[in-house]
Amino acid sequence: MHQLTDDIEKVLFSEEKLAGIVSKMGATISKEYQGKNLLLVSILKGSVVFMSDLMRSITIPCSIDFMAVSSYGSGMKTSGVVKIIKDLDINLKGYDVLIVEDILDSGLTLSYILELLQARQPKSIRLCTLFDKPDRRTVDIKANYVGTVVPDEFIVGYGLDYDEKYRNLPFVGILKPEVYGG
Ligand code: IMP
Ligand code: MG
Repeated sequence: MHQLTDDIEKVLFSEEKLAGIVSKMGATISKEYQGKNLLLVSILKGSVVFMSDLMRSITIPCSIDFMAVSSYGSGMKTSGVVKIIKDLDINLKGYDVLIVEDILDSGLTLSYILELLQARQPKSIRLCTLFDKPDRRTVDIKANYVGTVVPDEFIVGYGLDYDEKYRNLPFVGILKPEVYGG
């Protein structure tokens, strides 16, 4: 039987390590959004696993919504094109929006989403990302909350995919080179 883990070269963040990072973020956000009207906006699909853990580590009232965009094709490089696949249900007026992303890479996706949502006049809008690859940034954008900085390597698991697979790995790792068909 082919196991997903057979394709992994190296584990970078174990389940336990990720749980620690996410619960710390949740605690910080709970403190800083005390008394505010927090709306978590998860960017599908990569951030679903992070979102589901993060929201449960937030101890203040909050609402959630989801948005789907595509910035990547099936490969590993950004197309530079961001398309809205699914828009939000909630009107942002009066909300303190916190965008929840899996990884901030070139920054193209988030800067586009940020501009789009800002135009809808929320009370405030900030960014939260589990992973940050600052070396890869092509646009000037910084997240207000960063789980951890990662090196310039393609990572999978905990929501992050390669060709729509590996999202269901409970940890984050690097694929064996042969998986890329190299
Ligand atoms: P950006 O627009 O280049 O910042 O790309 C952000 C999106 O690219 C993320 O939401 C991911 O879907 C995808 N991405 C960037 N780096 C990785 C990676 O190392 N593994 C998996 N997906 C990635
Ligand atoms: Mg992806």
